[in-house]
Amino acid sequence: MSHRFSHLETAPPDAILGLSEAFGADSNPNKLNLSVGVYKDETGKTPILEVVKAAEKKILEEEATKGYLPIEGSPEYAEDVRKLVFGDAVAQDRTVVVQTPGGTGGLRVAADFMRTQLPQVKVWMPNPTWANHPAIFMSSGVPTETYRYLADDRTSLDLDGMLQTLRESASAGDVILLHGCCHNPTGIDPSGDDWKQIAQVVEEKKLLPLIDFAYQGFGDGIEQDAVGLRTILQHTDEALVCSSFSKNFGLYSERVGAICLVAADAENATAARSQLKRTVRTNYSNPPRHGASIVATILGDPQLTAQWKEELESMRQRITRLREQFVQTMKSTGSGHDFGFLLRQRGMFSYSGLTPMQVDELKSKYGIYIVGSGRINVAGMSESKMQYFCDSVASVLS
Ligand SMILES: Cc1ncc(COP(=O)(O)O)c(C=O)c1O
Repeated sequence: MSHRFSHLETAPPDAILGLSEAFGADSNPNKLNLSVGVYKDETGKTPILEVVKAAEKKILEEEATKGYLPIEGSPEYAEDVRKLVFGDAVAQDRTVVVQTPGGTGGLRVAADFMRTQLPQVKVWMPNPTWANHPAIFMSSGVPTETYRYLADDRTSLDLDGMLQTLRESASAGDVILLHGCCHNPTGIDPSGDDWKQIAQVVEEKKLLPLIDFAYQGFGDGIEQDAVGLRTILQHTDEALVCSSFSKNFGLYSERVGAICLVAADAENATAARSQLKRTVRTNYSNPPRHGASIVATILGDPQLTAQWKEELESMRQRITRLREQFVQTMKSTGSGHDFGFLLRQRGMFSYSGLTPMQVDELKSKYGIYIVGSGRINVAGMSESKMQYFCDSVASVLS
């Protein structure tokens, strides 16, 4: 009998993680990694927040069991997440919060839930979107479509195009995937007024919003970043939200996230909870404890919460500062390219407009790693290497 795995083809490596490996092997002392989507400090490290260390100390002393969590995760964590995401926007008994392994876990649970409970729906996602979005829904067997998002100038939102696609092509009951803030990969977010228009189409077309909320606090602030989501909730009584605490608590490897479901009433919420639990049970049974304990310990203690908000704010401000410095320093190179649009964008990412050839040249000549689409992780820039970075960009642009 022939070997069962002999016909398998090697799957392509993850494009972004492959770049990080090449970066690790690069001996250029000025090298910069602007590819992978993690926050970095001035030294290029992804630090553990002080407040996380403090919470872990407390957990180490007080934790009494490593027994399984319930299928839906820690109830304290769920309540903290509910308040952070919804504030007072929705009655507690209409919401369900299920702890998941990262935001990705939440999205996968959402996709499996749709496949079994809402089998007619398609998911409309922005073009472009995070590469894992279509892959996750495809893996679950949920059909996807795209709506227009990026304008032809590649630096702003094509709101009219977006609303037109949805009005003309989406069916009643379809799902619309929206990035709650800090759109990945473009950094382009709808304005307050844009959100109102999007919410109107959601209502008109009876779309079910699925809001991917992976960067709360990285845009304009914790509460400000929830404005879009809460605007949408004024126009629909049903929604799904996938939260991640990888970025805003720096807990990437602890896998902390949630899927939140808003139902029309408490009875619907109870039934939906039972179905979400069934999905979790057949995926990973129950979520990991440690990361959620860290989040619950911090959000359950006013002093630690204040410290977290300060540390998050300083990450957010560093990103804003780097955007400003980049734009200014590029001006000073005399390259004639105006990058002012980066100041209107939010979060870690922006489309730089660099072509795949220019991206290649930056890597081979200058040790600067950017993904082929030209998406840059602004948080990967460094104040001390800004001149080198901008001179390199100017040289490939000339
Ligand atoms: C838009 C978006 N959604 C979800 C995630 C998933 O985050 P997590 O690492 O918590 O799974 C990411 C992470 O990069 C993201 O950019």
